[in-house]
Amino acid sequence: MTTTLSSIFPSVENIPEAFRISQPIDQREYLINGELRIWNGNLNPVLSPVFVKEGDEYRQQVIGSTPLLTSRESLAAMDAAVKAYDLGQGYWPTRSVTERIEHVERFLASMRTRRDAVVNLLMWEIGKTKKDSEREFDRTCDYIVDTIKAYKELDRNSAKLIEEQGYMAQIRRVPLGVSLCMGPYNYPLNETFTTLIPALIMGNTVIFKPAKYGVLLIRPLLESFQTCFPAGVINIIYGRGRETVGALMESGKIDVFAFIGTNKGANDLKRLHPKPHRLKAILGLDAKNPAIVLPDADLENAVSECITGALSFNGQRCTALKILFVHEDIVDEFIKKFNERIARLNPGMPWDNDVSLTPLPEPGKVEYLAELVNDARQHGAEVVNEMGSENHLTFFYPAVVYPVNSKMRLYSEEQFGPVVPIVPFSDDSKPIEYVVNSNFGQQVSIFGTDSKRVAKIMDAFVNQVGRINLNTQSQRGPDTFPFNGRKDSAEGTLSIADALRVFSIRTLVATKSTDSNKQMMSTIIRNRESAFLSTDYII
Ligand code: G3H
Repeated sequence: MTTTLSSIFPSVENIPEAFRISQPIDQREYLINGELRIWNGNLNPVLSPVFVKEGDEYRQQVIGSTPLLTSRESLAAMDAAVKAYDLGQGYWPTRSVTERIEHVERFLASMRTRRDAVVNLLMWEIGKTKKDSEREFDRTCDYIVDTIKAYKELDRNSAKLIEEQGYMAQIRRVPLGVSLCMGPYNYPLNETFTTLIPALIMGNTVIFKPAKYGVLLIRPLLESFQTCFPAGVINIIYGRGRETVGALMESGKIDVFAFIGTNKGANDLKRLHPKPHRLKAILGLDAKNPAIVLPDADLENAVSECITGALSFNGQRCTALKILFVHEDIVDEFIKKFNERIARLNPGMPWDNDVSLTPLPEPGKVEYLAELVNDARQHGAEVVNEMGSENHLTFFYPAVVYPVNSKMRLYSEEQFGPVVPIVPFSDDSKPIEYVVNSNFGQQVSIFGTDSKRVAKIMDAFVNQVGRINLNTQSQRGPDTFPFNGRKDSAEGTLSIADALRVFSIRTLVATKSTDSNKQMMSTIIRNRESAFLSTDYII
């Protein structure tokens, strides 16, 4: 092991005081029916990916614990959500758009006051750098602001009657029922809130179970949820997935299942629901996004985008570039430049200045990545960058693996970590066939300058993936863009506007355009006799 790696984990004095967690945070609260209840049962320890040096030893930091609730508590959360929805007659689903927006605005204002606490826990729990943790928090706040804006816009567009073929009607979007929202560990705040907030604002009631890692960071927001939403509208539970969430799905009372995680996890849970066609699923799942670097690509740009695409947050993004197809004419030059750029990335702790490479939160991840690299070695590839695949405890230094072929696990398995497989190619049909035959279909990035060639490859992918990136890395943002995937990569489309649609359904009031019907419609509207049939325009 090089000195860089052996000295990566700090001793306690080397952790800036502002970021230290002096006392473990033993969380016992969970939110059901507007009450912060106290759990007296078993707790789940929260291990940080950060180890601290004590003399010659390293100790993994236990930063707290969270409640290990059982199916009993999760079913109590469901009862609360079912009651608050009350078959669509509850207080929340019958509130006006303006009233629901006011609740969400209050929540946002309260959430903003908890920024430092959430950011600190993001760093400690999942090892995300300070800059990226701050970005995740701020992006989430922006998402809420934009969701409110989009909801007003949606409502304004519905604040009118339409006339068609002798009928007049008003069409509005209404909620679906009880939503179960679960997010991933890599964006435990942002990705969860991109379903949770639209679900709430549209009038659904919600059961939220935080991700496997990145759980404690929701605690600073519990009170905001409690005080800003009516009882039962948002319920937050903790514990093992199979026991808590399994019981919810088996009950058949979940109407919407919003899940960002693995394809296997989604399959196992969806299967438990006894009424499959009454369950609406919104899923963000596995991906193996390739980059294709053509011989005439602007190499500096391609390298720079592939570095960010493959290695930001240590490659732990669903949208990360997880395999690079590089044309054989430029592959040596590409690897040289790529490796130079990796060498400039600083390994360290999440709070260190200018740090890019940090420890990994998933137990066993380092061993798993080493296994993938060894498998590739056995099939003829090598690690071609200095220090590549060196590891220490929870830290794994990025490995550039070359030349990768279809016999290797890295060719098709989603590594979700800092290993970059490079496949040389001479014929453009090779990466095209890879995408066409893949089980995944989220995104692809094409790097090149020959418009005809780029257009041909691009067109080959339009029916395969959700987004084709030209000379840029794969990514979700801007959040107004549709975010989805084909095959095993997703179900449904999310974006600020789309998320409002997926958590709602259009309902209309229609009548024949006779004089008496018109008169009744206008009386209802004029006297504000209905909450649905209304032409009030939100400012
Ligand atoms: O993990 C998947 C995220 O949706 C990726 O979002 O592309 O903005 O990092 P991002």
